[in-house]
Amino acid sequence: MNFPIKISPSILSADYGNLTNDTLRAEKGGGSEIHIDIMDGHYCHNFSFGIDIIPALKKHVKIPLVAHLEIDNPDIFIEDFARAGSDTIVVQEDTCPHLPRTIANIKSRGVKAGIGINPDRGFEKIEANPEILSDIELLIVMAAYPGYGGQPFSPVAIQKIEKACVLRSKYSAQFDIGVDGAVNIKTVAKIVKAGANYLIAGSSIFSNDISKNIKILKEIADETLRTAIV
Ligand code: DX5
Ligand code: ZN
Repeated sequence: MNFPIKISPSILSADYGNLTNDTLRAEKGGGSEIHIDIMDGHYCHNFSFGIDIIPALKKHVKIPLVAHLEIDNPDIFIEDFARAGSDTIVVQEDTCPHLPRTIANIKSRGVKAGIGINPDRGFEKIEANPEILSDIELLIVMAAYPGYGGQPFSPVAIQKIEKACVLRSKYSAQFDIGVDGAVNIKTVAKIVKAGANYLIAGSSIFSNDISKNIKILKEIADETLRTAIV
């Protein structure tokens, strides 16, 4: 199974005074999906967007919108984010006491589901419920802690990407393996070499020429994938 490279620009680093334009530039520049971090000032020490960002952007953007819930108690907001028009909802596994139930809740609303794993967390919860691997579309290895863009790359992410690949094969699953945090021209080759194909990037995309930044990131990723396969 071949998992093509997807670039998912994270609008956390966009110009909020020019958000629609920046998002449209990311779409035109080759972004596969738009990544929208939702923060509650509690699970992580920052605030970002609320639910209404989803329909607001949906009016303008054609590619899928991914709501990355970096919040406590995501279960009580899944219905709202689904109704708002999220194409994918990603929850952080450490915020879900009953992860299979949370994933089932997302899927029952016709929305794609993803799981994020923080740098200091392992796969225990997932391995305890491996059936969820067939239900999710995206597994995100966090290479930085939720809260801010522009943090350094956490090297532990590399082994975790490899582990995610092993689990995907073991359970014959089909989810994309994503990395969120410090995806940039310096880190992208090792990330792709380790087995990730879904690249979430904020600060490395939303500065100066958005479409050029996406193009360069994608070129390096595609080339790394090509040489890794041959
Ligand atoms: C952090 C967010 C990321 C963030 C990544 O809480 O989940 O999506 O935008 O930012 P960069 O790419 O700048 O590390
Ligand atoms: Zn994110």
